[in-house]
Amino acid sequence: MKISIFEDYDQLSIHVAEALLKVVLEKPDAVLCLATGETPIGTYAQVVEQARVGEVDFSKVRFVALDEWVGVPPENSGSCHFFLHKHLFEPLSINPKQVYLFDGMAKNIENECRLMDDHIAKLGGIDFMIVGIGMNGHIGFNEPGIPEDRYAHVVDLDEMTQSVGQKYFEQETILKQGITLGMQHLMEAKSVMVIANGSKKSAIVAQAIEAPISTQLPASLLRKHRDSMFFIDAAAASRLSKIKP
Ligand code: PGA
Repeated sequence: MKISIFEDYDQLSIHVAEALLKVVLEKPDAVLCLATGETPIGTYAQVVEQARVGEVDFSKVRFVALDEWVGVPPENSGSCHFFLHKHLFEPLSINPKQVYLFDGMAKNIENECRLMDDHIAKLGGIDFMIVGIGMNGHIGFNEPGIPEDRYAHVVDLDEMTQSVGQKYFEQETILKQGITLGMQHLMEAKSVMVIANGSKKSAIVAQAIEAPISTQLPASLLRKHRDSMFFIDAAAASRLSKIKP
């Protein structure tokens, strides 16, 4: 596991974007799994800016979802679907054929998981993932206690995820379940980058990096990954005891 600490959110976003663009330059048909949430917004703005000046061609990249709220339709601005279209797919003019997301409204939500597993297997696996870390240490919707050998699955969301998740929605929304890639997908991805910023993430970042590896802290499991990186800003790194920003 590699740890990189940046001065502030802007520097973090610039460097995460750089890493993502490098993946696409080296492998134009890379399979990417990019998180939604507040943390990567700056990164995606950088990526879009770079693509506008014509440096990187996204026309062959394949995208797969990390997660989605169950029962939230794609047109809801709080959905992961809406987020990815707004911040990445529309500004980058991504062809819908390049994208495979979870349908949070699927009648057979278990089948939705198997379809995603099959899709990722057919693509030959995920090349690069950017994931945030939840206030409870979750990755995607892999909540504390989730077995590490899971592929895509439906989750009963932690109370913390249900309440923190309200920040994405214009109106209070019932958030009981999520659908997510599993930790097994993360462990099989060629490369995984965890990103975090701000002092509110400092305690959970310190645990993820320094506490014993445990399924109670899904982010800590990524320390076992052969190519995982934690890219964090100085505020999020402020409680690390062994490494000082
Ligand atoms: P955030 O979400 O980027 O909005 O903080 C992170 C997460 O819950 O995975």
